[in-house]
Amino acid sequence: MKIRKAIIPIAGKGTRFLPATKEIAKEILPIINVPMIHYVVQEAVDAGIEQIIFVTSSGKAAVENYFDRNLELETFLEKNNKLKELETIRKIGTMVSVTSVRQKEQLGLGHAVLMAKDMIGDEPFAVLLGDDLVVNKVPAIRQLMDVSLKNDGSSVIGVMEVPKKDTSKYGIVKGAIVNEKTLKMNGMVEKPKPEEAPTNLATPGRYVLTPEIFEILEKIPRGASNEYQLTDAINVLCTRKDVFAYKFDGERFDTGSIAGYLDATVDFALKDAAIRDGLVASIKTRLTKYGITL
Ligand code: G1P
Repeated sequence: MKIRKAIIPIAGKGTRFLPATKEIAKEILPIINVPMIHYVVQEAVDAGIEQIIFVTSSGKAAVENYFDRNLELETFLEKNNKLKELETIRKIGTMVSVTSVRQKEQLGLGHAVLMAKDMIGDEPFAVLLGDDLVVNKVPAIRQLMDVSLKNDGSSVIGVMEVPKKDTSKYGIVKGAIVNEKTLKMNGMVEKPKPEEAPTNLATPGRYVLTPEIFEILEKIPRGASNEYQLTDAINVLCTRKDVFAYKFDGERFDTGSIAGYLDATVDFALKDAAIRDGLVASIKTRLTKYGITL
């Protein structure tokens, strides 16, 4: 069955980016001049997703507006003959169909996904977390969709190897090796301590799930951090159905952290021919100024 819809949970308050996120949704914070959320939605669109369902909280209207038309701005740009900008703005406002549902209390990722149950209905769907940017020619979520299609529409969880000391930042999967990139999962743990982690295969926010997950999410108790964890529901799903973990190709940036956000910004700037030279000159000057030798 075709995967047409993607859930993108964006209800989080972005406390790591305060005070910027006091009045601005963290998803609108830009990597150079493009909001972070644009890249995540673009990944879904490039993968063939037709409908985005944002799970929101108060203060996220800017994200919904960003993917809507802005006719006043379009008219302004047209009148002022800014045709390149006009095209960019129009494209964003028409790139994909967007709906949203509120998560009234922040009770965890599992709870957030459950909020979209009625909008998904009885079909497989994708979940992309906005704090994780993955750059690759074939979108990471498309790679998972393809593995799902090849495996009778099973759920597929995107994974990457992390240093053992970092397992407590992620959901960690375990399972039997199918091939170099694929595991048939037999479970998953949320943020285990390094000494308790079954593997070093972490889940950086890309999932293809079958709709049975909703019925499980309705029943699971609170888990790690006293929240309803998607990880716990996937763990149950593994006992009922085939669930695969797939080591997708791509470079992942943890843009939910200041360090990851900066790393993405520098990377994106260096690969943009129009701004690369300015950045390199600036870095050289600043390294000298602060007496830093590399
Ligand atoms: C969430 C998930 C975790 C996943 C991570 C990826 O945790 O619960 O399983 O590995 O996202 O970013 P969070 O970072 O929201 O605490």
